[in-house]
Amino acid sequence: MEEKTIQPKKRIFSGIQPTGVFTLGNYIGAVRNWGKLQEDYECIYCIVDLHAITVMQDPAILRANTMRAYALMLACGIDPQKSVAFVQSRNPAHAELSWVLSCSTMFGELNRMTQFKDKSARHADNINAGLFTYPVLMAADILAYNADLVPIGADQKQHLELARNVAIRFNQRFGETFVVPEPYMPETGARLMSLQDPTKKMSKSDENANGCVYILDDKDTILRKFRRAVTDSESEVCYREGKEGINNLMTIYSCVTGKTLDEITTEFAGKGYGDFKTAVGEAVADHLEPVQTAYARLMEDKAYLNACIDTGSEQAFRLTGKLMSKVYRRVGFIDRK
Ligand code: TRP
Repeated sequence: MEEKTIQPKKRIFSGIQPTGVFTLGNYIGAVRNWGKLQEDYECIYCIVDLHAITVMQDPAILRANTMRAYALMLACGIDPQKSVAFVQSRNPAHAELSWVLSCSTMFGELNRMTQFKDKSARHADNINAGLFTYPVLMAADILAYNADLVPIGADQKQHLELARNVAIRFNQRFGETFVVPEPYMPETGARLMSLQDPTKKMSKSDENANGCVYILDDKDTILRKFRRAVTDSESEVCYREGKEGINNLMTIYSCVTGKTLDEITTEFAGKGYGDFKTAVGEAVADHLEPVQTAYARLMEDKAYLNACIDTGSEQAFRLTGKLMSKVYRRVGFIDRK
């Protein structure tokens, strides 16, 4: 008989916060790519509600947003038959491992995290310990599943680096336990900038509501936001330094149409910014339409959504069982069972 040489698929873990509707930036930069990875990797995707409570949340709204985020994740192409798609708080391993790992994480390491500094500046009235240990919980998310790869944007690089360091430190102290995860950076052009200030990342926390497109925005809203996008005083649609607004619009147009930057330059040669902005808005609206339809259908079927969450969370729980027993044994806790 022929010997099997099939390599086991690498494992991917990623998470997204349930804080309202995803932005076009979340979608193009992250969640859309998650769907594409499902064929080649063993994927585990999580709505991170434990992370969400590091900032003030209204409980009823958090619960509703978690359902919406889960439905959006499926609407964006994550297939719960192919991937493990679940809600973080439904697998107790995350919180348990987070505690253990926090005892292998140094105060100084956490104190260097730029996101903690940013967030504590933005939420000066609520600088809680969870905000400080946020990266440890994120490390627990990843390490609990022995994930090989973690798709993340540039803003999460420092957190992943911390997760790697904690894994290495734990392994050195207690013996090989965790896989040391690698970042999986999506292809170029994935980082979308604010339509109102193209030097800043497109973000829900943008003070100017027109800076950020949400994937559930209706067509008129999308067109309006793109028509108002900040550009420059020239009139040429081409990708060049100093043309951050146009560069961003070209990136977005390229991401939703598949056209290259050169093709876009040719397409709009001799046309004004107005035409270009309308074309980008139209293309984005067309691209999001099937996602919006799928989302509406899912939200009408709460029983199905709940069943998917139950199944996914059960799968997630089972995936972490063996490793959690190993961790508890390694640190010296009396055997469970
Ligand atoms: N901190 C991530 C963000 O805000 C979300 C997140 C939580 C995450 N746990 C994770 C991302 C594990 C990747 C892997 O984007």
